[in-house]
Amino acid sequence: MIELNAAIDVQEWVAKIEDRTAVVGIVGLGYVGLPLTLMFSEAGLTVRGFDIDAEKVECLNRGQSYIHRIEPVHIQSAQASGFRATSSFSEIADVDVVLICVPTPLHPDHTPDMSYIVSTMEALAPFLREGQMVILESTTYPGTTEEIVVETINRHGAARGVRVLRSTDADADQGALHGVMVAFSPEREDPGNMITPRKDIPKVIGAVDERARVAACALYGSIFVRTVPVSTPATAEMTKLLENIYRSVNIALVNELKQLCEPMGIDVWEVIRAAATKPFGFQAFYPGPGVGGHCIPVDPFYLTWKAKQFGFATRFIELAGEVNESMPDYVVNATRRALLGQGKSLRGASILLLGLAYKRDVDDLRESPSLRIIELLLREGVNVEYNDPYFTRVGRGRHYDLELESTPLDDLGRFDCVLLATDHSQYDLQRIVRDARLFIDTRNATRSICSDKIVRC
Ligand SMILES: NC(=O)c1ccc[n+]([C@@H]2O[C@H](COP(=O)([O-])OP(=O)(O)OC[C@H]3O[C@@H](n4cnc5c(N)ncnc54)[C@H](O)[C@@H]3O)[C@@H](O)[C@H]2O)c1
Repeated sequence: MIELNAAIDVQEWVAKIEDRTAVVGIVGLGYVGLPLTLMFSEAGLTVRGFDIDAEKVECLNRGQSYIHRIEPVHIQSAQASGFRATSSFSEIADVDVVLICVPTPLHPDHTPDMSYIVSTMEALAPFLREGQMVILESTTYPGTTEEIVVETINRHGAARGVRVLRSTDADADQGALHGVMVAFSPEREDPGNMITPRKDIPKVIGAVDERARVAACALYGSIFVRTVPVSTPATAEMTKLLENIYRSVNIALVNELKQLCEPMGIDVWEVIRAAATKPFGFQAFYPGPGVGGHCIPVDPFYLTWKAKQFGFATRFIELAGEVNESMPDYVVNATRRALLGQGKSLRGASILLLGLAYKRDVDDLRESPSLRIIELLLREGVNVEYNDPYFTRVGRGRHYDLELESTPLDDLGRFDCVLLATDHSQYDLQRIVRDARLFIDTRNATRSICSDKIVRC
């Protein structure tokens, strides 16, 4: 642990990162926090993990994992390097830096649910001491770090003389500063991407002052090949939102074009493939049954909410959200037309949906369009079953209320239709198409298969 008295000597702080004596605290051990834990641990830093979910804490302390792509052996080697998980926030006092990776979902009315960040800050602020650093990693609206993180630290620390202080010209020369350092650094994990190593994804950092910038760059420089400092936390917060809004808007564009191409008799996938040969000014995005996950359907609306405080309407964000959210309806209608083409009605049909996860090869159900498609099909009186290698059953969730178990793929002939929503690489599509009576493909996953049973939508 870094021993500091009243003043932060940032060079001393950096040296402790470099000689690996610093202790990193990670709050929220989910899809973001747990991989970060392993990265710091592999880099030789001791990590203390904090989570309010007692089952996760116990699981990790038993050397087990609850994320499919993280093997228990990785948890065990982190343990061998000193990693331990806890629900006790008093242990925040033992760490040198606190990284906050808690959820930032939406309320049903599309406004930000800040309760996780607020309750985390309220829980840890009483235990903060001078010389520590707090970095928010959760995706959020510009201003959160200043308005919630800095405010909570200062409010709780006032009685103890602990607060976030910023470099002034006077003390900057001496390299000393009293207080807690604060920064925002967004997560850029790409779930299911096995090609780009996490360490090669540049890490954007926006700190409240120069000292915090130097300290945060040293910290992330221990695990990422490149850090990208920006001038303020709000700039870093906005950078992350721009990235996700860019995806949301471009996916909505191709989803809209897909719907137009169909009646025009044009294959939208062929169009995108051809456009992608342009060496400049075009980046390929692909249509699908909708968008899912914790980020793309959620984060843009954080900015929409904040923009309203400035009297500004984010029209692109809202239109993209509308188009993307309408895609499950489009899939259901396309399925209805395909069944009608075989003289069957949607009502009373039996349909097997393939892929519940929101994305290929991930074990994450959050905001998955598959769940919405199932809900719509049930409402239409369809007998729906699903298969997903990552989920043997699905029960009640934050925004859905289903009770289903994964169906094996051994008797596909009993379904009127097999609907591919998520193209997990485990699926043997040649065999599935051969055994299905009708196959609806929302991902163009059967592009190399020639069969008149396939309907691409
Ligand atoms: N999952 C991704 O691919 C991804 C990518 C980029 C950014 N993000 C952002 O990162 C943040 C975290 O996302 P995630 O996917 O890891 O979420 P997650 O739900 O997988 O994990 C969050 C963890 O925080 C814990 N938690 C909740 N409240 C807590 C509290 N008060 N104290 C301690 N722990 C608490 C939960 O128990 C859970 O284990 C979100 O803001 C998300 O938008 C996620």
